[in-house]
Amino acid sequence: MKSFKILTFGCQMNEHDSEKLAGLLKAEGYRESERLEDAGLVLLNTCSIREKAEQKFYSALGKLRELKEQNPSMKIAVSGCIAQQEGNSVLKRAPFVDVLFGNQNIGRLPYLLEETGGQASGRRAATEFPEGYEHASIPASRGNAVTSFVNIMYGCDNFCTYCVVPFVRGRERSRKPGDIIREIEELVKSGCREVTLLGQNVNSYGIITPPSPSYIKRGTEGALLGNINERYCDFPSLLQMINAIDGLLRIRFVTSHPKDLSDSLIDAMANLPKVCNAIHLPLQSASDGVLGRMNRKYTFEDYMNRLGALKDAVPGLAVSTDIIAGFPGETDDDFRTTLRALEDIRYDGIFAFKYSRRPMTAAQRLPGHLPENVKDERLYKVLEVQDRIMREKIGARVGLVEEALVEGPDKSGARGRLTGKTTQGKIVNFDGPPELVGRLVQVKIIEGKKHSLAGKII
Ligand code: SAH
Ligand code: SF4
Ligand code: F3S
Repeated sequence: MKSFKILTFGCQMNEHDSEKLAGLLKAEGYRESERLEDAGLVLLNTCSIREKAEQKFYSALGKLRELKEQNPSMKIAVSGCIAQQEGNSVLKRAPFVDVLFGNQNIGRLPYLLEETGGQASGRRAATEFPEGYEHASIPASRGNAVTSFVNIMYGCDNFCTYCVVPFVRGRERSRKPGDIIREIEELVKSGCREVTLLGQNVNSYGIITPPSPSYIKRGTEGALLGNINERYCDFPSLLQMINAIDGLLRIRFVTSHPKDLSDSLIDAMANLPKVCNAIHLPLQSASDGVLGRMNRKYTFEDYMNRLGALKDAVPGLAVSTDIIAGFPGETDDDFRTTLRALEDIRYDGIFAFKYSRRPMTAAQRLPGHLPENVKDERLYKVLEVQDRIMREKIGARVGLVEEALVEGPDKSGARGRLTGKTTQGKIVNFDGPPELVGRLVQVKIIEGKKHSLAGKII
């Protein structure tokens, strides 16, 4: 029997694309292998956001080459953002790769595999960027039944100067509200209780690039956006429609761009009961000079005003963020401003990165690139400050009663132990019977750890 294994790098968008790739392969009669060594097809779904992500891919690829030397019938496929960015040059550099395809060619995987026919001469690359082509209708093979990712839009038009995403994911395209609602209704029928809506900038949902028939090719027919006359709505209205779906208990979304955090989104978060009390609102830097050169289109004051309004409207809101340390030209003063902002805002979670120079982006040509050791030091300081804040904040939750959605058995495998998430998005583990999976329970927090809470059902 044909078998596959997918290794996923990068963001939730990629994780969800991998679920679709698994769905496609299963529909073609492939079975998922536990072990890499046993898989007839190994697919690397790649990320190119930072140099480190790219290094991880090339080291995984090196290991696969060794496996393939022992087992020449193994096929290797490469997809995702490095495939999109590098195209044929990956095939040149790694001649043992059989198939390579970009982010908008996912639907063609079965055809590409068929075309290679297992012969070295049949190596194929497909990285065209057909406008309007999507893969939303591919049935995803999802990991967890209770909580699911749902794409609401693709691509990004913001062109932050450090970021490759607009180049590897293309222009912003929104899915039709009717398609999104239908997908969620189907998910709810099969036990889903929480959705995480995915887009690089969900707040600007509703802008559509219509599909062009000239791009219909073999293998993409069923995957085109359907009737383009259906009316679009904005993100708060979409949330309202999803909130009305019977049986669904919770709604989350990533990512929100601070410049597009509108009053109507704040109202929606405050008034729609299923929308969770959590937002990921990337700040990147608190220095206006740096924000300007990043092309973020807000000042620190703008950010604080929007965040303040949101916090006032949504009591108990958890806020997380992304920070880039050592952007070109960042002075000690700029950096101290960011550290002060972290102390003032006291985020519930951050993802901090040191600036990484990326191909195609505008920032690579900016003056004032900083030495690695300066970037390392600054990143270390950000993490140090945030570590302390997190410990204080998590400690303060002990003794509180929180509502948790039960997602399944605890990952540790301990008998009778369940895992769930609070509305703020914190993992919480507690004892309970398996019948509670998919239900909301009240949990008293008894211990706060670095990445999770321990609780007791009351
Ligand atoms: N669309 C989302 C996610 C973008 S990528 C958003 O706008 O928030 C996730 C994070 O990676 C970014 O927020 C940024 O903090 C970081 N990032 C992107 N490019 C980077 C680069 N070249 N170097 C370091 N960090 C980067
Ligand atoms: Fe990248 Fe900026 Fe778009 Fe986010 S909003 S994906 S950081 S360009
Ligand atoms: Fe990486 Fe592509 Fe996501 S570059 S962060 S996998 S959009």
